[in-house]
Amino acid sequence: MEKITVKIYEDSKQASVAVAKRIADMITHRAKEGKKAVLGLATGHTPVGVYRELIRMHEEDGLDLSNVVTFNLDEYWPMKPGLLQSYHRWMNENLFDHVNIPRANIHIPSGTIDEKDIEQHCQEYEERVREAGGIDIQILGIGRTGHIGFNEPGSSRNSRTRRISLDKVTRMDAASDFFGEENVPKMAITMGVGTVMEAKEIALLSFGEHKAHVIRAAVEGDISTKVAASFLQEHPKCTFYIDLASADKLIRISTPWQIGLCDWDDPLERQAVLWLARVVKKPILKLTNEDYAENGLAQLLHSRANAYDINLRVFRRMMSTITGWPGGKAEAKKVLVLSPHPDDDVICMAGTIMRLVEQGHDVHTAYMVSGALSVFDHDVRWHGEFVREFNKIFGLIPEQTISINKQLEKYLENKRPGDLDKPEVQRIKALIRRTEALAAAQYCGLDEKQTHFLDMPFYNTGRVQKILIGAEDISRVYELLMEIEPDMIFAAGDMSDPHGTHKLCLEAFLKAFEGYSKTSKKQTRVLLYRGAWEEWKPEQVDMVVPLSPDELKKKRLAIFRHQSQKDRAMFPGPYDSREFWQRAEERNRATADTFDDLGLPEYEALEAFVQLPINIPISVRSQLNSG
Ligand code: F6R
Repeated sequence: MEKITVKIYEDSKQASVAVAKRIADMITHRAKEGKKAVLGLATGHTPVGVYRELIRMHEEDGLDLSNVVTFNLDEYWPMKPGLLQSYHRWMNENLFDHVNIPRANIHIPSGTIDEKDIEQHCQEYEERVREAGGIDIQILGIGRTGHIGFNEPGSSRNSRTRRISLDKVTRMDAASDFFGEENVPKMAITMGVGTVMEAKEIALLSFGEHKAHVIRAAVEGDISTKVAASFLQEHPKCTFYIDLASADKLIRISTPWQIGLCDWDDPLERQAVLWLARVVKKPILKLTNEDYAENGLAQLLHSRANAYDINLRVFRRMMSTITGWPGGKAEAKKVLVLSPHPDDDVICMAGTIMRLVEQGHDVHTAYMVSGALSVFDHDVRWHGEFVREFNKIFGLIPEQTISINKQLEKYLENKRPGDLDKPEVQRIKALIRRTEALAAAQYCGLDEKQTHFLDMPFYNTGRVQKILIGAEDISRVYELLMEIEPDMIFAAGDMSDPHGTHKLCLEAFLKAFEGYSKTSKKQTRVLLYRGAWEEWKPEQVDMVVPLSPDELKKKRLAIFRHQSQKDRAMFPGPYDSREFWQRAEERNRATADTFDDLGLPEYEALEAFVQLPINIPISVRSQLNSG
């Protein structure tokens, strides 16, 4: 079914290390022959891990890159090289400044070239690639439109380096880097599909569940100009290095029974039965032997007694996930909810938090990053005015407030889109989010002592895209774990949030938890919720908490406490104009509807959780490559 070689790794780090190793081997091999190694490079979230590993190899293992020549895929046009969003600057910061590639060997399409000279510039770029002897290894990411480089849908197999108009989806995906879609350039200069296809070897990387659709289209679909990456099917030496989340829609992962014999363990049985129920549109307990046989699940049927037994086992397993007592009924527990941004806790699990509080558990919420980046400037003005008037009421030095407000006003007026806020403004924005989080937590029944603000430093670069966590980030989570010693922890289990913040928060938590588990004698249950972008699949969930219609309304009001994110959020995430409360409700209702369709009890809404370690079917594990 797969028309391209695909290597699947458990996580993005393993995949990145594998690609970096491949590149390093090629560089060393070329050096031994006294030749140059020519690399085609990509930017974006995806290749960061590869560059990080190359830098590590250079610093720790002595990897010499002095024989390397590079050609980047693309650059926005127009774009000044020093600007925050420029791929020139990005490459310097993420690779070139840290390794010994001679500056003269580096090539990136120009974002400042005059319009009239673009065509010639593009031809010269192609010429330089040829002069260098062609690209030895081309690194690619993939856009949600299926683009490689900036070859948007419609790009032909033979397209060459040229100026291109960016697709609406691509511009929306880039909106947050530019502090608003209106600031994203409408054009870019990119190598063509034809240019990329001439590389001797191609390594495409893809991470996160938001790319799963397009990976399936590129790998299993027909070759089409609608998905530029599908042309890679014709390349003699192209490999996709992807994580499990991006592989989720490939047949060998989503419905492996369609391509061969499987090891039938409980997680795979559940996956197959819920799939079958969806296909034949029947509740679990009504599935018949014929349904199994006629839909390619005869092998499951044969490995068990009959449909009735299978149905019952999966039905019971699904029933066991439903609980109105998320903390259990025995004794009061200490519960810690880790919320990456200040509103994730209520968006994703306000109903569960309120239940836990009502049922007498000691619930703490910890806000991992300040969230300052997503506060609009007008909210800073508004709060400034509030403080001025508040001070007037109590006769507190109004002059000082007035003068500070004037300075702020002047500063905000002169700010250009994408400029980093000065530290005081960042602090005001963080304060706005902090007071909102406190208000929402109080609404859920917590007091101030039960709320913790970690203000993790990795977030405070003022930049939208987040790349690395440090020791201090981990240590803040670790200290909190030591202080609270929770029986239960809820954390956000996201891999595909637009800016990487959730992923890094999860990484920091897992590292801190590893250290904590070594010292603590407590048995801690860890449950993962999903952020505002994706939801767990029903076959994955270990616990769902029902919400009554009234509880769902209360959840909405808790989310409303985050006023700065109401009506229009600064970073809604790509391609979704719904407000966060709408997404939360629709998602929780959709989970309830799915349970209903499966013949399980009918609820208004369900909040879903997956327990760590995540149960992965043996058949899926067996598909994994090692780093
Ligand atoms: C970047 C590039 C693009 C990206 C793609 C994925 O040089 O050419 O094709 O690889 O848009 O971007 P990320 O990795 O940010 O998801």
